[in-house]
Amino acid sequence: MSICTMPLSRAAIAAALLGALAPASAQETVKIGLILPMTGGQASTGKQIDNAVKLYMQQNGDTVAGRKVEIILKDDATLPDNTKRIAQELIVNDKVNFIAGFGITPAAFAAAPLATQAKIPEVVMAAGTSIITERSPYIVRTSFTLAQSSTIIGDWAVKNGIKRVATLTSDYAPGNDALNFFKEHFTAGGGQIVEEVKVPLANPDFSPFLQRMKDARPDAMFVFVPAGQGGNFMKQYAERGLDKTGIKVIGPGDVMDDDLLNGMGDAALGTVTAHIYSAAHPSQTNKDFVTAYKKAFNSRPGFMAVGGYDGIHLIYAALKKTGGKTDGDALIAAMKGMKWESPRGPISIDPETRDIVQNVYIRKVEKVDGELYNVEFQTFEAVKDPGKTKK
Ligand code: PHB
Repeated sequence: MSICTMPLSRAAIAAALLGALAPASAQETVKIGLILPMTGGQASTGKQIDNAVKLYMQQNGDTVAGRKVEIILKDDATLPDNTKRIAQELIVNDKVNFIAGFGITPAAFAAAPLATQAKIPEVVMAAGTSIITERSPYIVRTSFTLAQSSTIIGDWAVKNGIKRVATLTSDYAPGNDALNFFKEHFTAGGGQIVEEVKVPLANPDFSPFLQRMKDARPDAMFVFVPAGQGGNFMKQYAERGLDKTGIKVIGPGDVMDDDLLNGMGDAALGTVTAHIYSAAHPSQTNKDFVTAYKKAFNSRPGFMAVGGYDGIHLIYAALKKTGGKTDGDALIAAMKGMKWESPRGPISIDPETRDIVQNVYIRKVEKVDGELYNVEFQTFEAVKDPGKTKK
């Protein structure tokens, strides 16, 4: 007797019936594995993104295209070996339809081959090294690239009388992108780099490096430290008296993260950075976002929160477009070219590169109603990642 004509056992019939009778929501759940640094050096990034995803789902519900959305949050403790193991477990055991988050570039790198193998979208909400999106055709980014802001601040510096710059950058991939793209633009305009130091990513002590900066007597120092480290950096900058020397800080806006800015004190006043988000961005969408975020979490959202808010929006919008289908290729196709109004301004996903296209703003730290803010004063519209064409 062949298997197909074999009568079904009572147990098999019961199991099949149970499956058919199971509530639709349990069968149809879309699972998102959210891998974030909730502990370790980048814990503030994890917190901001987790908050923003929760806020978005409070505002938009936990059902999209008829399917219930389940977030499975995992802490990689800022260690990329953990990211890889966790991504694997989420894909194999939990059968997630998306992996998302990724607080640092090495974490986004670690997960990339797994996204490719599993053919599921990897939504990068935080990391900023240009090459990340080239590591897998399933990667889409809603954060930023360091090249977007560092090229623009390089051009701004030479045009604004800054001739000699000392650089201080975090010694890993995004720090090197920030340094190289800044240098290329600043020196092309006639600027000179007089000192270059790289600081370790984990627990950096800035003071010996700050002394070298002071001795080099530059017009300004170009700084990239990842989100979460700016407060400590500015504390040591003030303690070493650099705020009194007239050596201003310039850079991508990571060092002036809104999350920490208000605690930096007057040493931060006048700092000019180029970046993709300010809590003071004067649009109604942003005002509503900041108000809701403050109400929910009693803190000010920074650029990492916005990367998370836009990342979960992209997932919802793609699911709407596929009618709730979770086929990875269909989801990636749906994401390509998508455009929407973010709290940071208008953004889109470049269909060629799957990277974010967004405005870059030049901002200056000012006191507004007794609080420190990055006040935007110049806008570069719809900036594509310059790191894609110039390597
Ligand atoms: C990164 O690791 O890619 C990264 C992290 C924090 C930042 C920028 C880049 O603020």
